[in-house]
Amino acid sequence: MTNLSLLLATLLLSFSILKSTCLCCPQYQKAALLEFKSLVLGDLADNSSADKMLGGLETWNSSSDCCHWEMVRCFSRGSSKEVTGLDLSNLFPLDSNVTSDVLKLIFRIRSLMTLDLSYNAMKGEIPRTGFANLTKLVYLDLNNNNLNGSIPSQLFSLRYLEFLDLSTNAIGGKLSSSVAGLKNLEQLILNGNSIQGQIPAEIGNLTNLHKLLLLQNEFSGGIPLSLLQLRELETLDLRRNSLSGEIPNDIGILANMTTLALSNNALTGAIPQSIRDMTKLVTLRLDSNVLAGEIPTWLFDLHDMKSLFLGGNKLKWNNNVSIVPKCMLTELSLRSCSVRGPMPLWLSNQTELAFLDLSENELEGTYPQWLAEPNLGTVILSDNMLTGSLPPRLFESRNLSVLVLSRNNFSGELPETMGQSTSVMVLMLSSNNFSGHVPKSISNLTLI
Ligand SMILES: *[C@@H]1O[C@H](CO)[C@@H](O)[C@H](O)[C@H]1NC(C)=O
Ligand SMILES: *[C@@H]1O[C@H](CO)[C@@H](O)[C@H](O)[C@H]1NC(C)=O
Ligand SMILES: *[C@@H]1O[C@H](CO)[C@@H](O)[C@H](O)[C@H]1NC(C)=O
Ligand SMILES: *[C@@H]1O[C@H](CO)[C@@H](O)[C@H](O)[C@H]1NC(C)=O
Ligand SMILES: *[C@@H]1O[C@H](CO)[C@@H](O)[C@H](O)[C@H]1NC(C)=O
Ligand SMILES: *[C@@H]1O[C@H](CO)[C@@H](O)[C@H](O)[C@H]1NC(C)=O
Ligand SMILES: *[C@@H]1O[C@H](CO)[C@@H](O)[C@H](O)[C@H]1NC(C)=O
Ligand SMILES: *[C@@H]1O[C@H](CO)[C@@H](O)[C@H](O)[C@H]1NC(C)=O
Ligand SMILES: *[C@@H]1O[C@H](CO)[C@@H](O)[C@H](O)[C@H]1NC(C)=O
Ligand SMILES: *[C@@H]1O[C@H](CO)[C@@H](O)[C@H](O)[C@H]1NC(C)=O
Ligand SMILES: *[C@@H]1O[C@H](CO)[C@@H](O)[C@H](O)[C@H]1NC(C)=O
Ligand SMILES: *[C@@H]1O[C@H](CO)[C@@H](O)[C@H](O)[C@H]1NC(C)=O
Repeated sequence: MTNLSLLLATLLLSFSILKSTCLCCPQYQKAALLEFKSLVLGDLADNSSADKMLGGLETWNSSSDCCHWEMVRCFSRGSSKEVTGLDLSNLFPLDSNVTSDVLKLIFRIRSLMTLDLSYNAMKGEIPRTGFANLTKLVYLDLNNNNLNGSIPSQLFSLRYLEFLDLSTNAIGGKLSSSVAGLKNLEQLILNGNSIQGQIPAEIGNLTNLHKLLLLQNEFSGGIPLSLLQLRELETLDLRRNSLSGEIPNDIGILANMTTLALSNNALTGAIPQSIRDMTKLVTLRLDSNVLAGEIPTWLFDLHDMKSLFLGGNKLKWNNNVSIVPKCMLTELSLRSCSVRGPMPLWLSNQTELAFLDLSENELEGTYPQWLAEPNLGTVILSDNMLTGSLPPRLFESRNLSVLVLSRNNFSGELPETMGQSTSVMVLMLSSNNFSGHVPKSISNLTLI
């Protein structure tokens, strides 16, 4: 009996607490967001139409609970609410003059767990201080902005970070020509690594990272060994930077990796043996580097492999060996891999291939029937020594969109069926030995 009344009393009490305190976002968080809004609007020349231009920001006003605003997510704990997520992707127009200064306001919202400011054409350097405030951050997306400079060291203190995307900016910490004065000097001392524009070794602190995307920036130097501490990594994308040196020998220790993309850098050395241990690998992109040596056949033993890009290196494929792949590839590039002799027959079993690039090799023989399968979307065989006529069936495919056969020795008449391949957008047949007339049906193609 007394227990029941105690319970009732507690219930009543908590009700009255709920009633008297508004379950709103904290005042200082609302203030920070409103300041963010007015700073953004101030950066736009035309204030009057800005509200409409910035889809969603019109719901941000001082008379409402910021947890009800668009693009703002909150979490309630007990009788209080906190802002935990800001989804501000693609908010500012491309020609806006919004700078990274807006981040300073966001650094006040210490409860943030996810922050997406991607596709905003934000200019300037990421503020040196502030990230240390966001200790709960799990997800940070700043991809597709115009940020420059280097990654602020404070970012490496965010130990819960699982997702970090800084792709398609100009980050890398190139030494700017304007380095002068004490302020810059301090930065150089604090963040010595950024002088050479390396990926800071401190990245190894972010041991919860699942996805690390730094593609299309200006990073140079080697791939830091500390990356091997990120055991949870599933995606590592460092494409289109200026990285040099060898791929770390022990990279295979990252056993959860599904996507390893290092294309378009200046990496040297061989493909590390340890990649064999990445048994979950689905995508391996190593193309357009300076890797050398023989392409290991065990790559085709990785069951889950779908996309394998090795072209444009100094790698060699020994076409004398016949393999029985354990994977079913959808994409393969062996461009410029010294593939010599007939078209590799084991490829005929890769029936899910949609993309095949075997250009710049020394392939001989005719265009195989099995390479006219309807799944194929892109076939690039230019700069080889292939002969004979093209199978008419090739052009019956509704999927074929890119066919590049230039600089071979294909001959015979072009198939009348050519105009049937309505999805073809790129067709390059120059420098061959074709004869006869160009099929009338070609006028039905919609090339780009
Ligand atoms: C735009 O509006 C803000 C207030 O919302 C004001 O501070 C700023 O000066 C205005 N900018 C221009 C260019 O008029
Ligand atoms: C950015 O600034 C330039 C020059 O001040 C101005 O011409 C342009 O309209 C601004 N862009 C926007 C979207 O306000
Ligand atoms: C403020 O925004 C809320 C929605 O978030 C809206 O219902 C309300 O009318 C707005 N108030 C003013 C004064 O614009
Ligand atoms: C960190 O958060 C506090 C309190 O929210 C704020 O006063 C401070 O300005 C923030 N620091 C930075 C560098 O933004
Ligand atoms: C970053 O870009 C701004 C202009 O947007 C420039 O003033 C600054 O010097 C650049 N910083 C670096 C490190 O390149
Ligand atoms: C990285 O981690 C080490 C050890 O946990 C710590 O001492 C160091 O301050 C961290 N670095 C940064 C930039 O947070
Ligand atoms: C890898 O993934 C599995 C399954 O998703 C998970 O249990 C494990 O903790 C992850 N990390 C490592 C280092 O294997
Ligand atoms: C492949 O076989 C040909 C002829 O049998 C031989 O001349 C060539 O050296 C072999 N290539 C390799 C890389 O083993
Ligand atoms: C294709 O696969 C089948 C079944 O796995 C196998 O018997 C055959 O030898 C393979 N053909 C080639 C050319 O690898
Ligand atoms: C085109 O390719 C897709 C996937 O690669 C496949 O599902 C589809 O069957 C193909 N279309 C034709 C006409 O075969
Ligand atoms: C191309 O093939 C024709 C036969 O179709 C042959 O006569 C000619 O020598 C070949 N040209 C080259 C450069 O191999
Ligand atoms: C072009 O396509 C139309 C409609 O599919 C077809 O009737 C016509 O015969 C084609 N023209 C040629 C020259 O193949």
